[in-house]
Amino acid sequence: MIYKYYNNNENFEHFACGRVIHGKAGFTNYPVRIAGEVFKRCLEYSNKKDGITIYDPCCGGGYLLTVLGLLNPDIIKNIYGSDISNEAISLARENLSLLTFEGLLKRKQQINDLIAKFNKQSHKDALKSVEVFLNIIKNRKIPPQIHCFIADILDKKPLEEQDFKTDILITDVPYGNLVSWSGESDNTINQLLDNVIPVLHKNTILAISTDKGQKIKNDLFVRHEKLKIGKRVIYILQLKE
Ligand SMILES: C[S@@+](CC[C@H](N)C(=O)[O-])C[C@H]1O[C@@H](n2cnc3c(N)ncnc32)[C@H](O)[C@@H]1O
Repeated sequence: MIYKYYNNNENFEHFACGRVIHGKAGFTNYPVRIAGEVFKRCLEYSNKKDGITIYDPCCGGGYLLTVLGLLNPDIIKNIYGSDISNEAISLARENLSLLTFEGLLKRKQQINDLIAKFNKQSHKDALKSVEVFLNIIKNRKIPPQIHCFIADILDKKPLEEQDFKTDILITDVPYGNLVSWSGESDNTINQLLDNVIPVLHKNTILAISTDKGQKIKNDLFVRHEKLKIGKRVIYILQLKE
């Protein structure tokens, strides 16, 4: 993929997992530059350019959503994240709280306590990143509304019970050794696509990030782009007319 929106020299050190944004053993994160680029490409196809609702149905610890909230402070209005794992959803809530003053000030206090106790450079660096994030949200017009819930996305029911519609659905589905799919299906991504339909409208843009092994073949969707970056493949899709 040739990047259109973020150049090579861009420095994303403030977003490093475990610095201000919480990480946890067994949870994955996502390359910030790819996340930002894919979101902007989705916006290209979207008929809406601000006041955007985004949804990640395999949100894990909410790293991807938190990063997108910080990179697009004036564009994203509602953030929805769901995951099958209880533990993932509590981490996602904690991370997404960093998009609020209250959450960031609480994190600042935690980091100050760590500095007082250990006097480590890494914590002092984290404090600088908190200031960068505070600056981002200080200049933001409206804070996003955040909603996290537990849902098995291979089951039809959970999203039938939701009453929101998303403008952009962006997700990094399970693959590899660290995180695998929970649930029964021999065609997981296509099952996911069928099951998310209740929260889509006709202009919703979807970005599904996966590995080369999981193929998308779903007649209900048209493909705008297929992006290849290392071992990742990202499909940008939309419901057929
Ligand atoms: C690659 S991780 C996503 C990481 C996330 N994008 C982040 O930034 O933190 C995939 C997630 O899919 C979740 N998952 C696995 N099976 C699922 C299912 N059937 N329904 C919903 N989520 C599922 C896992 O619990 C895991 O958190």
